[in-house]
Amino acid sequence: MYGAQDVGARTQAQGERKGVKMRFSMPVTVYEEESCVRNHPEVFAAAGKKALLVTGRHSADRNGAASDVLSVLEDLGIASVRFREVEENPCVETVMRARRLGLSEGADFVVGIGGGSAMDAAKAIALMMRHPEEGADYLYGSRDASRVPLILVPTTCGTGSEVTPVSVLTLPERKTKASTPHPLFADAALIDGRYLAFAPETVIRNTAMDALGHLFESYLNADATDYSRMCVDAGLKIWSRSRDVLLRSAAISEDYANLMRASTLAGMAIAQTGTALPHGLSYPITYDLHMAHGRAVGYFEAGYLAAAPEEESLYLLHTAGFENLAALQDFYEAMCGNTRIPAEELEHAVDMLCENPSKLAKAPFHCDRDVLRRIAFWPGED
Ligand SMILES: [Fe+2]
Repeated sequence: MYGAQDVGARTQAQGERKGVKMRFSMPVTVYEEESCVRNHPEVFAAAGKKALLVTGRHSADRNGAASDVLSVLEDLGIASVRFREVEENPCVETVMRARRLGLSEGADFVVGIGGGSAMDAAKAIALMMRHPEEGADYLYGSRDASRVPLILVPTTCGTGSEVTPVSVLTLPERKTKASTPHPLFADAALIDGRYLAFAPETVIRNTAMDALGHLFESYLNADATDYSRMCVDAGLKIWSRSRDVLLRSAAISEDYANLMRASTLAGMAIAQTGTALPHGLSYPITYDLHMAHGRAVGYFEAGYLAAAPEEESLYLLHTAGFENLAALQDFYEAMCGNTRIPAEELEHAVDMLCENPSKLAKAPFHCDRDVLRRIAFWPGED
């Protein structure tokens, strides 16, 4: 395992490479504790007079998060209306329907409850409610990020959306997903590990792989700084403490809290750096094969680490508790199943990423089509 003496041997982060010019911004006020929502009514009281709750169909009820929020709102005398139609990988049309509901009901703030889909939709809805005269193009057409107040309550352990500035929506006409260009941070994130206990096992496993991907990709990132890597280091250590229970289905409350905290730390890291090549490769796979985001992202992580400088990938593997790349891949398959993606889909994902120079530039090492193909087809073509 790597010790403290090894840290200095690793490739330097951005600030050291280019001169000291680092920035770390985390405008979301984060609360993490058991009964977090009920313990902090002041967060809702400060937000407005009528809430638009944005959720999926069932999970926010199953895990108790919606009833916690509704109970706090009722105690405060704050009215609410609920939009519960956010689908997995929400599309622009869903955002526009929710805005119509929110505006017609006179809501003046948004509470997003759920996984990445509900929270990403909530961010975009909060933006569009502030700009009622604008059409759907505005989601991708302007950099004015003013929005109505926004509170996020995560209930899975992967997206980190509660602390990131991005809202990833599906664009059916382009047959892929894309982040809105606006920095859309929430005002507050209320994090309670108890909600995660109610998530289906496959959701916990897929989202935990997504969080691990965020940690790896933020660290192996051209925009990494010592500050963003601080989040990665802490996130990997906390993630590794509870990663084994993911395979044994024997989690206790501490594990749920650990996985959610690691996810939030991973979110703080990618809020600074963005994600890198595995996420870029995953988007068309998710769209074409309807594969869960974390599973699609996780498919490419070992290949990405294999392409990185060995010292760095070993540091990441060891901090996450893996002996080597094969151990990481074994873990991925135990978590997400034996995933096989057709070669033509992998070629398509490479083609799509080659057309995305800003994502390609996130790799902290030379990356051309050959390197991308090696990552996509790792450990080798059949
Ligand atoms: Fe992700």
